[in-house]
Amino acid sequence: MKLLVTGGCGFIGSHFVREILATRAKWRVVNVDGLTYAGRGRNLDDLARHPRYRFVRADIAGAAMAPILARERPDAIVNFAAESHVDRSIHGAAPFLRTNALGVQNLLDAARGGRFLQVSTDEVYGSIPGRRRAREDAPLRPSSAYSASKAAADLLVLAARHTHGQDVVITRCTNNYGPWQFPEKLIPLMITNALVGHPLPVYGDGLQRRDWIHARDHCRGVLAALERGRPGEIYNFGAGIEPPNLVIVRNILRLLGKPTSLIRHVADRLGHDRRYAVDTAKARRELGWRPRIGLADGLAETVRWYRDHPAWWLRLKDAAFRAYYRRNYGGGALR
Ligand code: NAD
Ligand code: DAU
Repeated sequence: MKLLVTGGCGFIGSHFVREILATRAKWRVVNVDGLTYAGRGRNLDDLARHPRYRFVRADIAGAAMAPILARERPDAIVNFAAESHVDRSIHGAAPFLRTNALGVQNLLDAARGGRFLQVSTDEVYGSIPGRRRAREDAPLRPSSAYSASKAAADLLVLAARHTHGQDVVITRCTNNYGPWQFPEKLIPLMITNALVGHPLPVYGDGLQRRDWIHARDHCRGVLAALERGRPGEIYNFGAGIEPPNLVIVRNILRLLGKPTSLIRHVADRLGHDRRYAVDTAKARRELGWRPRIGLADGLAETVRWYRDHPAWWLRLKDAAFRAYYRRNYGGGALR
């Protein structure tokens, strides 16, 4: 099996590439990534000489994709490449539409047979009130340019199935956490700020709810959908827990032995979705998938990873943060 993964240098994509190489002894992986601000070749440093791994730098929305796919002729494509941060989409939607919607159509057009797995998100269902959980057939009600561009991609993927009979599968997962996540997202942002005693910016009242799942559990789900998903089907993944953001932030501070006085309630995100929740019965039933990593263990592992890898995340924080770190810590240990 020759698998072409896009966005494999990002947070979840890098976990996925590792999972494949570790568990599928005969599979080869070609990782196509444009290396945007969020893509770090260094996330996969340890694989540079792996005999079954190859990296190609390319933009999924660019003209190079057709010749790359014609040359590589992969048996399947898994598309992780995306602009992934909601706050950035509020400030400028254009790169989101280009990569997340046009890029997906470009990949579908260039793909020559084989399965196409689109990694989507639970955000396409929008905010879910009450205790309801969105099933795969729930209406799409995206509320940010990010989630609207991901919903557009899902519709393009389903259109390729309907019109051209392409073998497609879509997965929609809840919020991921774990090592190698860019420190703009809630959990790594709060851990890295707390490590240096910087304020922790909680949007609004901090009572918004997200269903947090470890990236490795998500990747096992994507792999199960790739191998066992039915053509044209959509599969939700989530851990089924939904702590308010403030609980997550307080747990991070507790794990690090830092005071709650670091929490700062700041202006709310524009159009902030209050709650995401998905029904994962279909993935459990049809794919035999279930999450294995509990939030308490996963969060503790993640906090340890960031504490032990300041060299990885420090260069990704902005200049003001780095100056603050140098002033207060001078490159010393973060414990
Ligand atoms: P990320 O931002 O960490 O990584 C995205 C990767 O895509 C980077 O390596 C980047 O260089 C690459 N990329 C971006 N634009 C590209 C382009 N035009 N051409 C080629 N490569 C490009 O994102 P992530 O958090 O790892 O998310 C991966 C996928 O999973 C995304 O599709 C996202 O929508 C989806 N998803 C994420 C979460 C989450 O909680 N992070 C949850 C559900 C679904
Ligand atoms: O639900 C899946 C989605 O989860 C993915 O599709 C997206 O790619 C991923 O970025 C994530 O989106 P969110 O907007 O939910 O994640 P984020 O980490 O940005 O925010 C999580 C919650 O924390 C949200 O309610 C906003 C809040 N937040 C976030 C940041 C960055 C804060 O309160 N303060 C912050 O500084």
